[in-house]
Amino acid sequence: MKFELIFTFLVLISSSNSALINSRGESYECTYVTSDLFKPLVPLPPTDSPVTRCYNLELVVKDLAPDGFTRPVWTVNGQYPAPLLQANYGDRILVNVTNKYGDPASIHWHGMFQKGTNYYDGIVGVTQCEIPNKVTFLYNFTLEQYGTYWYHSHLQGQIVDGLKGPLIIYDPKDPFYGKYDYEYVMTVSDWYHTPSGILLPLFRADKYRGFDPMPDSGDISGLGQCDCSAAPKNSTCNPNNKMATYVVKKGKKYRFRIINTSSLVHFTISIDNHPLTIMEVDGDYVKPVTLNTIPINIAQRYSVILDANQPIDNYKIRAHISVCTPNNNLTINYNAPLNYDVTGILKYEGAEDKLPTSKADSLNYTSEACRDVNPSSLKPYYENKVPKNVISTFKVLVTFGNLPTGKQVALINNSSFVPNLNYPTNQQVVEGVDPYKLPPSQNAHVYECNSGDCNDAALDIYIVNNSTDSHPFHLHGHIFYILFNGENNTGIDPPNEADFNFKDPVTRDVVTVLPNSTTVIRYSVNNPGVWFFHCHIQWHLNLGMAVQMIESPSIFKNTTIIPADVTGLCAGIDLAMNKDNKNSKTE
Ligand code: C2O
Ligand code: CU
Repeated sequence: MKFELIFTFLVLISSSNSALINSRGESYECTYVTSDLFKPLVPLPPTDSPVTRCYNLELVVKDLAPDGFTRPVWTVNGQYPAPLLQANYGDRILVNVTNKYGDPASIHWHGMFQKGTNYYDGIVGVTQCEIPNKVTFLYNFTLEQYGTYWYHSHLQGQIVDGLKGPLIIYDPKDPFYGKYDYEYVMTVSDWYHTPSGILLPLFRADKYRGFDPMPDSGDISGLGQCDCSAAPKNSTCNPNNKMATYVVKKGKKYRFRIINTSSLVHFTISIDNHPLTIMEVDGDYVKPVTLNTIPINIAQRYSVILDANQPIDNYKIRAHISVCTPNNNLTINYNAPLNYDVTGILKYEGAEDKLPTSKADSLNYTSEACRDVNPSSLKPYYENKVPKNVISTFKVLVTFGNLPTGKQVALINNSSFVPNLNYPTNQQVVEGVDPYKLPPSQNAHVYECNSGDCNDAALDIYIVNNSTDSHPFHLHGHIFYILFNGENNTGIDPPNEADFNFKDPVTRDVVTVLPNSTTVIRYSVNNPGVWFFHCHIQWHLNLGMAVQMIESPSIFKNTTIIPADVTGLCAGIDLAMNKDNKNSKTE
């Protein structure tokens, strides 16, 4: 039934292929992909055994106008959002990245476990050096998971400038197979008119006393509408930019894979007259929960099922923006006429071409702003067994502060993370540097299982948020159990184990830690390597809100050979570039 789709729709609208020969002499056909997110997905036909799929991604800066305003965009294959990458569970993907940005680059594969391939996680200074301009670099990893993921830049502010796109891994055993007829991907994002290369130096100036730069607009799958009356005189701005439009057939069911790819903002998603049934959260299935509105923080994903059972018409897709950080009039772009209500259209086949006049049922943006879907309402679809042998409990105290120069920084346990751009931590560990002796600016937490049942080994993180912002925290290389999602419980009311959910906690890879609150997560210590743990608000990451989790370093050291093309990226990098590395420790 599903395969007829392959002939009905074509997601790939162009491809120019090339052969790739790797260092072992194996050759692959690599596809230059582009995609149209307003066409239903064409799930890949299952294969008897896993296959290798190779994609060519070309990083090029190109003038685009996602919200009507023309600016240089850091595209992938000329597109924003970056093209959809697809694979099946168990496949290996090769991603051949050719950097033509004129800047260094790297790509992170959000949510991928990267078991045995920590060096392809894409974090400059943690797992690799940057890919210089005009250089091609091959990422190569196996997909031991399924679900909705994405890929994005993790370097400087390139994620703000456009380098982000969906990565979908199909599950041949999807338990919801048959409960939906078609699938769509929908990304929601904030959008800035000023390139991050201009924003970041302003934001990081010693004297800056504003907060996180404000975006100019929001978009749904790369289409939005900005206020052109605010655009500078000599700019190009189209006030009638296309609306994001998803077409459905009456009587069919649709799985929407929603991804918040923002740099700063939280979204609340709803589609008029259409309740949405959540069935996947950050890659894992959950027991279906039907909601009218879906709050989604940065980097989180939900798959929801929509039943196109309403009269043939146009309905509003509402993506409501919440800014979850404080603000003042010194903030960069504070006066931008940001429209907090980003809209798109759910169009039934046969409906007239006109704007929807539908009304929202009951929207409760204020109570959902900056929150996750209540973790206790999400139950894992498959029973999960929370590991019990807790080998380390790590307390992460989140605050803001200032360097002696006056520069604002984010602090984790009183230290702001500064990457060592020319000597990535994973390479240091493999080459014998003692991970316990890394400088304080490395924000390293080292742990290894030495006793008890190491197959059941786990680490607990208490994220203690002593700030008035809410922070979407993300861990690389793992999914975690949300044992406790506190609210207003810092200091006076520390979390009590009796309140933890050990029985059926939902798993995620991004959790929102509420203002002045503590959240407790646990994960299996099953993936030796160096894994980043950080707030996914891009500006907070730029301020140093990150930790390096150095997992099982002796196993990692003894079992890892970092490929020469990875270490080769570090050769020739000027040591002087890392000046910023000193002085990051604050009082
Ligand atoms: Cu979406 Cu550190 O990653
Ligand atoms: Cu944050």
